[in-house]
Amino acid sequence: MALGGEGGLKTAERKFLAPFRGEALKVPPIWLMRQAGRYLPEYRATRTEAGGFLNLCYTPALAAEVTLQPIRRYGFDAAILFSDILVVPDALGQEVRFEEGEGPRLDPIRSATDLSRLDVGATGTKFALVAETVQRLRQDLPAETALIGFCGAPWTVATYMVQGRGSPDQAEARLWAYRDPEGFADLIDTLVETSVEYLDLQVKAGADCLQIFDTWAGSLPDDEFDRWVVAPTRQIREAIKDRHPDIPVIGFPRGAGAAVVWYVAETGVDGVSFDTAAPPFLMSETFEEDDVVVQGNLDPLLLVAGGARLDARVDEILDLMQGKRFIFNLGHGIVPQTPPEHVAQLVERVRSRR
Ligand code: CP3
Repeated sequence: MALGGEGGLKTAERKFLAPFRGEALKVPPIWLMRQAGRYLPEYRATRTEAGGFLNLCYTPALAAEVTLQPIRRYGFDAAILFSDILVVPDALGQEVRFEEGEGPRLDPIRSATDLSRLDVGATGTKFALVAETVQRLRQDLPAETALIGFCGAPWTVATYMVQGRGSPDQAEARLWAYRDPEGFADLIDTLVETSVEYLDLQVKAGADCLQIFDTWAGSLPDDEFDRWVVAPTRQIREAIKDRHPDIPVIGFPRGAGAAVVWYVAETGVDGVSFDTAAPPFLMSETFEEDDVVVQGNLDPLLLVAGGARLDARVDEILDLMQGKRFIFNLGHGIVPQTPPEHVAQLVERVRSRR
């Protein structure tokens, strides 16, 4: 597919944005979380050229290139900026390292003294590189393709900052929040403030929509969920709406289960992404027509398996979501062992819908 410039198409005409304007489409828009990544050989080549994952995030020409790769292959309705949620702590001065084949590593922050070393004034240089990537993308993307900017939700980003790495239970962050809620709130407030600046500059550089990733939203009981997931997300949404009232904001409170209703009502997000564990009838029946745009939720492992099971599940989701304001996506990110031809099969199945 040829990639071209703006071509006179207005932002509002991009198909991806139609559900946010109130339209329920017969063939919903489609994009996939982690659509740029290790399952694509061209991604692996560009990452090697960049000399590692974070270098890739901070090299605008290459970050833009890997963002475009899945658009060239599959013509998704939206591209998502190639970056990472941990660019925020890295830019704040808590250096992030990605070892090959391992997850992220950071020197953990566990006290007010550790916290005082973060520098909200220091983010400019690294954030400017991300803004440059967004600007390049808006120029190089096909006019019909929307561009999604993103950040991690403060809770999820904090879990990595406090634990120093990924963890199955986010225990260190949860314990800090119980033992010293005021101190932990200082960290969350810093992340709210920094995330607003980060999203604001992505919109100014050309992002059409924003997604807030809260991968570990499901690890908190109701009162803590309210304080550390819902309240900071609402603050970010409100600050962004003050500056950019027309930019849709999608929340992804992974693992929230039934609390998704509370999350949508209290944060005021324009769209909500359902995770793999949510039964599709919850996506179709939880909300009234005007409440929110729904996104989701195919199992990423079904995309690895492929075959007739994949087609059948895609059809089931599309049947249930018929007549709804819906965006087709996975319930979590694409995994590296996904065969690229299965992604083609999925897109074809969704688009051949009559
Ligand atoms: O979706 C996209 O294509 C846009 C880019 C994007 C990445 N990470 C690229 C990435 C986005 C939106 C993210 C979000 C992200 N990053 C989340 C929230 C969503 C989710 O997946 O739960 C989280 C928790 C992170 C933190 C992170 N980044 C971890 C835990 C890891 C290691 C695990 C892994 O998959 O390797 C990363 C690395 C990462 N982020 C990769 C990519 C393409 C793989 C790095 C590589 O190429 O080696």
